[in-house]
Formats: sequence, C-alpha cells, structure tokens
Amino acid sequence: MNPIKCSAIIAVLLTAAAAGCISANAQAQLFSPEAKQKAQALLKEMTLEEKIGQLNESSGLVMPGLATEKPDDLIAKGGVGSILWQMNVQEINRLQHIAVEKSRLHIPIIFGFDVIHGYRTVFPVPLAMASSWDPSVEEQAQHIASQDARAAGLQLMFTPMVDIARDARWGRIVEGAGEDPYLGAAMARAQVKGFQGEHLNSDGTVVCVKHFAGYGASEGGRDYDSVYVPEELLENVYLVPFHAAEQAGAGSFMSAYMDLNEIPASGNHWLLTDVLRKDWGFQGFVLSDAFAVGSLVTHHYAKDGEDAAYKGLSAGVNMDMASLTYAHNLAQAVKDGKIAEPYIDQMVLPILETKYDLGLFEHPYADESKVEAALSRPEGLELERRLAGRSMVLLKNDNHALPLQKSLRKVAVIGPLADSKRDVEGGWTVEGLFGPGGKSHPITVLAGIKNKLGPDAQVTLVDGPRPSKVYPGMLDTITGEKPTPPPTPEEIADWIAKVKTAANDADMVVAVMGELASMNGEAASRASLDLPGIQEQMLEAVVATGKPVVLVLEGGRPLDIRWASEHVPAILEAWYPGTKGGDAVADVLFGDVNPGGKLPVSWPRTAGSEPLYYNHTRTHEPEDAPGFTSRYWDISSKPLYPFGYGLSYSTFKFANLQVSKPSMHVADTTEVKVNVTNTSSVAGDAVAQIYIHQRYGSASRPVRQLKGFERIALQPGETKTLTFPLGKEELKYWNPQTKQWVVEPSEFDVWAGEDSTASLHADLIVTQ
Ligand code: BGC
Repeated sequence: MNPIKCSAIIAVLLTAAAAGCISANAQAQLFSPEAKQKAQALLKEMTLEEKIGQLNESSGLVMPGLATEKPDDLIAKGGVGSILWQMNVQEINRLQHIAVEKSRLHIPIIFGFDVIHGYRTVFPVPLAMASSWDPSVEEQAQHIASQDARAAGLQLMFTPMVDIARDARWGRIVEGAGEDPYLGAAMARAQVKGFQGEHLNSDGTVVCVKHFAGYGASEGGRDYDSVYVPEELLENVYLVPFHAAEQAGAGSFMSAYMDLNEIPASGNHWLLTDVLRKDWGFQGFVLSDAFAVGSLVTHHYAKDGEDAAYKGLSAGVNMDMASLTYAHNLAQAVKDGKIAEPYIDQMVLPILETKYDLGLFEHPYADESKVEAALSRPEGLELERRLAGRSMVLLKNDNHALPLQKSLRKVAVIGPLADSKRDVEGGWTVEGLFGPGGKSHPITVLAGIKNKLGPDAQVTLVDGPRPSKVYPGMLDTITGEKPTPPPTPEEIADWIAKVKTAANDADMVVAVMGELASMNGEAASRASLDLPGIQEQMLEAVVATGKPVVLVLEGGRPLDIRWASEHVPAILEAWYPGTKGGDAVADVLFGDVNPGGKLPVSWPRTAGSEPLYYNHTRTHEPEDAPGFTSRYWDISSKPLYPFGYGLSYSTFKFANLQVSKPSMHVADTTEVKVNVTNTSSVAGDAVAQIYIHQRYGSASRPVRQLKGFERIALQPGETKTLTFPLGKEELKYWNPQTKQWVVEPSEFDVWAGEDSTASLHADLIVTQ
C-alpha cells in the first residue's frame, strides 16, 4: 500500500475513533439483573443432560422428515428447551404441562414459529410493508402479531428476515425489506420494537433475526445455494440490517443454511462469534435454521453428527433447530473433551435468561379461553386495511387513469388472482400454513371492488386458469396443493374469448395478475420473471378490446411486465396485501386512499438483468458514456422502475436543497434541508429520500447510497421543510484496505428527491 495514503487513512481512523465512529460492543443490557441472577442459580442445579436439553429445539409436529414421534418423553427428561411447528394451543399447553410438571427442574418450554406478517390477521408481506417507507407500519403490524402470537401460546418469533435481496429470482425476497441496507435497517429496528417492545417482557415475544448472514446472495438466486460475499460487502451491505436489529435489542438470531465463503453459516465461527458477539456485543442466543446443524454433515463440512454438534456449538449456535444433533451428540463431545462444560453453561444462560424475562416461569401456559377473542380483535383488521393501503406502489398512471369513479356500474375483473383467497395473504400465514382451516376470511380484490361499488354495480369475474408450476415449492408440499396442468390450446382460446366478452360488456376492466403465493417464499426461486401461465395473453386480449384497463399486481417479487408497462395505462403493485387486502386495493383504485408507497427494490426489465441494484460501484465505462459501455446489447441495463420509485395521485416538488456546513471536518455532522411541496389539488404522501456519493477515497464507493428518508403527508399547496443529518453514521464505510470503519476526507454528492434517480443536488466537502 502507498505509505502516504496509508498514514492518511490511519489518521482518519484515529479521528473517527475519537469521535466514536467505530462501533463496538454497544448493545444495551439485554437481560434484566433478576433474570441473570435467577438463570445463574438455576444453572447450578442442572445436570449436563439438562443443560443440553435447553440447547435443543424439537419439532412439535409429527411429520415424515420433521419428527416421527411426539417429543413427550424427551420433554419429561428435561431434554427440550424449545418446540417449533406447533400452533395448536391445546397441544402447546399439553406439552408445556409435561415440561413444567414432569421435568425435574420444571423449566418451561419456549415455543417458536414463523409469525412473519401477522397471526390470524395477516398483514401485507414484509416486502410490501417495506414499500410503505414508513417504519411505523412494520412496528404497528408486528406489535399486533406479537400480542396475537403470545395469546396463542407462542413466544419465539422466527422473524424479522432482514436478508438483503438484490435478485428477484430468489423466492425469499418477499420476506425481507428489499435491496437497501439503510431502508432494511430501519425496517429491522421497527420490527424488533414491534415484537419485543423496549425490553423483553411478559406481554411481548422475542424475535429471531434471520438468516444470519448473506442468505439473499445465493448464486443464481437459487434458494439455499452457496454464497460468496467478500467481507467489505458483508460489512457495508449484508450485515447492516442485522447489526441494526441487534442494536435495537433483538433477543435472538437465526444462523443461515448455506455456505458463506465456503464455511456454512451455521458453523461459521467468524460470523457467529467474532462478528456477532465480539464486535457487536450480542448477548442473546443463536438458533440454527431448521436442521442446519445436522446439515453441516450434508455440506461435507462435518464428518458426522458429533463433529457437526461440535462445529455448530463451538462456532456459536446455542440452539439446534429440529435436527436433534445436539441432543444426540453433545454429551459425548463433552465427555471426549472436545467441548468444555463451562462453554455449554455460557450457551445455556441466554436461553434461560430469555425465558425469565419473558415471564415464562410465572406464566407458562396460554389462557385457552381468551385465545379466540384475542385473535379476532376488530382493531387488527382495521389496522391491516390501513397499512395495506400504505404499502402499495403505483407504478404507472397515464392520463390520470386512476383513481376510478365510484359511479362505475359495469366492471370486469380478470385474472387468476382476482378472487383467490388463498393467495391474497401471501405465504407464511400461521393458520393457513399447515393445511386449510385458516380463520382469517381474506377479502380478495373482486370482493373489495364489490364492497366498494355496492349491490347496484355489475362486477363480473373471469379468473382464467390457475398458473401451474413445473416443480412444487415448500408451500405446495406443506399445503398439499397439486400443481394444475397447463391449459390446452383449446382451453386457452376459450378463456381468451371469455375475457373479450367480459371486457366488451364492461365499462372498465381491472386485471389482477401476478404470482400465486406458493410461487415465492422458501424453495420457490425462479429462472424467469414472466407473468406465469396465460396471464399476459389475457391482458393482451383486454387491451385489444380498447376498453379502459388497469392492472393490479399481486406477488412477492418484481415481475417482467415490460409489455404491460407499454400497453396498460395504470399499474398498481399491491404485493400480497393481507387479510383485508381486497378492500385496501379498492380504497386505492377508487381514490379513498392516495398511494404513497415506493419500491424497496430496483425493478428489473427481465430476469437476465438480475442481480440489479442501484447502489453499485461505478465502472470505468458507465452505461451513459459514449463508446464501449457496460450494458447488454439487447436491453437497457437500467431498471424498468428505479429503487425508491412510486407515483401518487398528488404531485410534489423538491426544492431548495441546502447543506448547512458545505465544508466540514470528518468528525462533524451537517444538516441537509429540503423543501417538499404538494403541487397538486389532492392531499397525499411524499417520501423524501436523501442519497449520497463519495467521489474518491481509499475504496470505490457506490454511485448512490440512501442515507435518509421520511414519509410525510402534505395538503394541496402545502410545503414542508425536512432536515436530515449527515455525519459519521451516514458517511462511514468499512474499508477493504484497512478492514476498519472510516470516514474519509473527500468530496460528496448529495441528492434529494422522490427516488434513487433524484437530480436535485448539493456538494459536501469533508476535510481532515
Ligand atoms: C426457514 C426459516 C424458518 C424455519 C422454521 C426454515 O426452513 O429457512 O426461515 O424460520 O424453517 O420454520
């Protein structure tokens, strides 16, 4: 390294360190002193076997591949610390009675499950909630989810998923907040607060932040596949939301399945101990993903079960989810001298402390008589409808095609998602997940439009064939849904004829299209991003009739909608909007709610554009330069719709961008101010977004990075001045040369506006 440059970096590091820039061990006390004391005292009473029991999370569901027998005997022996995949409250209480009454030390079980976006009241999927650009949406939704889950006997929430996803082929993009670390961090913090409150307590639940880490960067977007992410990208991008969740007090983390730079994440000491515990100071416990400790053998990382138990535990995984590898092998590993008992103690303590702080020792059982009332609270549904409306993104609205008139009398609603109750809530619905029998009564878009227009309107449905999948995904396997065979040419012709007749007979067509819920989520990656099935043909048939048409998209990832973006005047991305989703869509379509959501992902033109993200570093041949450029010859490399983008029925103007200290010291903070005016005659929400770019330094920095945002409501003609700080938190980055966080003297671009292409610009000079 150039010695001059090196000393400059060190100087900056020292300055930055003096200013407190380098984060270390900053998590506030996670557990109360009482919980710590009680856990220590209890630990002294425990045998090695009982300690290992606390490190075991057993399946509560008897199913081939999960568990072949009920965990009753193991619980009675003190061999089960936690149970997952059991949502029947009577069964939960039955198992808890065994733990509390029959096991020697009466230690209650902590029950875990994926309460991802609501319990009975299903909120929009996480990608949708992130599209609100309003962290309070996540906080409010997850607070209700937490209360519902706790009332129903669950205390350990396998959420939030804070994996950065830069590739829409990856099916699990739906479960997170998209591609951006800053937005992702804000959503992560909000969810921790929503579930846990300010501290772990007896009314709340404990989160399990997942999947630690880098899972979203799987090669080719294929779920579970290997991940190669260099340390600088982990630090600057992938770990950011995890760190934010940890700083917000997250009580547990879930280690990911896949190989991370050739070391499985669930056996990765650097990740789980050096970063999470030593650098960040995490005090809670790490739970493996399902079977991931056992899978260390499948990865060809561990020799056998005992080696897997040793490698998982010594890397930093406290609790083994479902594989029973700890239960079967840890005692032997201790006897063989591979693991010292004091290390086991250290791994058990946070689990006991969590149980104490959650009040499980005092109140181990769910009150079965109160569950139904808790889950049916009407305020949850009202909130759901409101938050769904806040989460939708208006992608296109030529010539004010939207909002629609409520005086419409003949509407044709077209598409396989238009009236599909099982899809409108998306995947990971607690009550719907393990077979039918969900009690949430979802409102489809068809029902929402009917509710809005009343009985005098004629609302007809042509749903068309349900798109089929070549290979079933996880959700089909669980629900037993059989893929429908693709329609024959005759059937297609018949559906198209029906579409045309319905469109010709209507004043307005609403097409509701996208992906079935089971087409995304876990084990649901795709090589193509097309509208599956014959949906696009149906859409083309509608457009050909010349009738006015709007497209409502339901789904969990951006799709290839190039044709629609050219031929359909209005497109609304509703994602999976949840239980009251159809009403919320109708609210937006008919103007009772003015859409204000923005994209948390760059919208690709086609699957071949992936991975696609706005915060990439700059090439020496940028796409806009003349001559040889970094682009495909057959398609623009730019997104169809940029990150941060979304329309409104209002229009806004951003002006007067000012940086309070245009030149400042590396340790200083400046304020960025911008005026936002509603220039329309309709009240609406704007999302002010601040982006920066460091022009030079000891590493190439991304062309733009989001470093501030705020969603605000503005009356017609109203102007608000917004202020955002730019200081060491916003300007720092993890330097690949020095392997440290630095703020460097440099020149910075600052932009403010409505999306990541904002052009309103100011300069900032940072000096040493
Ligand atoms: C998923 C996790 C989930 C766990 C328990 C795994 O297959 O990767 O996200 O929390 O199952 O259901």
